[in-house]
Amino acid sequence: MASTARAHTNIALIKYWGKRDADLILPYTDSLSLTLDEFYTTTTVDFDSQLKHDHLMIDGQVISPDKSAKVAHFMDLVRQMSGQKAFAQIKSVNHVPMSAGLASSASAFAALAAAASRAAGLNLTPTELSRLARRGSGSATRSVFGGLVQWHRGIDDESSYAEPIMEKVDFGLEMIAIMINRQQKKVSSRGGMQASVDTSPYFKIWPEVVEQDLKAIKIAIQERNISKIGEIAEANAMRMHALTLSAQPPFTYFEASTIKAINLINQLRQTGLNCYYTMDAGPNVKVIYDQKDRPQILAALGQVFGQDNLVVAQPGPGIEYLETIECED
Ligand code: DP6
Repeated sequence: MASTARAHTNIALIKYWGKRDADLILPYTDSLSLTLDEFYTTTTVDFDSQLKHDHLMIDGQVISPDKSAKVAHFMDLVRQMSGQKAFAQIKSVNHVPMSAGLASSASAFAALAAAASRAAGLNLTPTELSRLARRGSGSATRSVFGGLVQWHRGIDDESSYAEPIMEKVDFGLEMIAIMINRQQKKVSSRGGMQASVDTSPYFKIWPEVVEQDLKAIKIAIQERNISKIGEIAEANAMRMHALTLSAQPPFTYFEASTIKAINLINQLRQTGLNCYYTMDAGPNVKVIYDQKDRPQILAALGQVFGQDNLVVAQPGPGIEYLETIECED
């Protein structure tokens, strides 16, 4: 039986950075994100008893088994849970405006969890689906839901899952992604967060920092206060990046243009425009602002980075199941 699902990527406003349990992907802290409408992955999974291993195709390209070990490991989990014995044909398509750059493991594993579990005959609740997606990639646990989403760190496999805190975000919160570099990142988030946990002397206080930032941002969300949300998200992102700069050996995801964007956003703020920045495990900057200021912010960013390198994204939906249209080899 084949099944197709779509999941959107999410950008954390309060970051997940560090695992307590690498196998189960249990984080040290809660985190909170916004699911975006513009970047998503559509995946079809078709179990086939004729196959000798899982076959993975991403954006029309066959991925060799040695490069798809994470996916094969994830599919083994689905087989264990469902009793399904066959391997599967997996086809995944990333919708990322202007190619690469923001293709994410969050949308990828959320879509795979939904399509694979359905195709295997499992009928998971959204919470169970969030737990399953987590086993592929931590941030995927949040992409099961739309809007503003909190991932509860939990204490074990059962208690670590995401929950929507505001599915319909109706107060003008928007993001612009500035595409600074479309290459694959040099240090993966998985490797980068482990290095931070193992070697940054500041990691000890990270859980406390996140707890405070999370409390503050949840109040700001209830107040629908975009400036406060932006301010807290920006500070939290910089605190996360301080964990990479303080690792041994130190490293950073920033590039020269990342700093240029940060300076520009600070400048715009001084002129009275309400905008803030956040960055993940890569150089691209996402700007957080109020929709009503979009024209001025786009114009100012466009002058420096070029309109072609900007993508406007709004709050997006959670998992969607689609009809499986084609399944040729
Ligand atoms: C900086 O979810 O990619 O984007 O669990 O190892 O697959 P793994 O890591 P991943 O890390 C995301 C890190 C982040 C912050 C966040 O999304 O919360």
